[in-house]
Amino acid sequence: MSDMISLENVTAKYGKTIVLKNISLSILQGEYVGIIGPNGSGKTTMLRLILGLIKPSTGNIMVFGKRLSRFHTTHRKRIGYLSQIQQIDSNFPITVKDVVMFGRCPRIGFFRGSSRKDREIVVQCLEEVKMLEYLNTPFGHLSSGQQQRVMIARVLAQEAEILFLDEPTTGIDIPTQTKIMDIIDGLHAKGMTIIHICHELHLFSQSLQKIICLKQSLYKMGNVSDVLRPEVLSGLYDTNIYSSHSNPYDTH
Ligand SMILES: Nc1ncnc2c1ncn2[C@@H]1O[C@H](COP(=O)(O)OP(=O)(O)O)[C@@H](O)[C@H]1O
Ligand SMILES: [Mg+2]
Repeated sequence: MSDMISLENVTAKYGKTIVLKNISLSILQGEYVGIIGPNGSGKTTMLRLILGLIKPSTGNIMVFGKRLSRFHTTHRKRIGYLSQIQQIDSNFPITVKDVVMFGRCPRIGFFRGSSRKDREIVVQCLEEVKMLEYLNTPFGHLSSGQQQRVMIARVLAQEAEILFLDEPTTGIDIPTQTKIMDIIDGLHAKGMTIIHICHELHLFSQSLQKIICLKQSLYKMGNVSDVLRPEVLSGLYDTNIYSSHSNPYDTH
């Protein structure tokens, strides 16, 4: 498997403040990676760096085997991004179908009309997240969990190869969180590279292959059973984290 993303001695600053320090890591094609760390530890900043939205002050970032300085919109559309739920006014006049069609824009151009193929893709993507029956519903009328499923359909319509998830299940009820995790698992099974920032550690899928712990620098990186251990989490979050029950991931 080749590297999809690699960071080499990357340091990032906002103004004079260092928020990420000397990070080196790589993410393989098709890998499912979790990112954890306390608030303000630089998780979102790392995604913004990889998306090319901000530049590192030192170090190199490679995405799809290319230096990010040469990164270009044709690469950018190969990366899908899903953030926390956004508040949408319930009167905002946009339907579910329109939201998903927006995902096609990088492919078809903003000023060209959609083709029959684009409309078919929108239907398929909504079917994949089990939201097809809401095709013509105003987006603002949906619950936040349903909106998040539509936003996943939008990323699918973009035909992205890498999916970044920045706490997409925060503030969503547990059954819907589980549904969203199942959808993400399905995308990984189909070969998508997934990078998922998540605070709800219990939600992480069994198919997660690597966890990156950030605390300004790279605190630890390893497989689930190496990282989700009381002693690692206690150090990462500077607090005592006990395991009240045996760790389900513990294979030792
Ligand atoms: N646009 C910005 N300008 C200045 N400081 C920022 C900006 N965005 C984030 N920060 C600061 O950078 C640090 C890392 O933020 P962030 O990457 O959002 O952390 P996380 O996602 O892990 O909570 C925090 O201290 C935050 O306050
Ligand atoms: Mg964040």
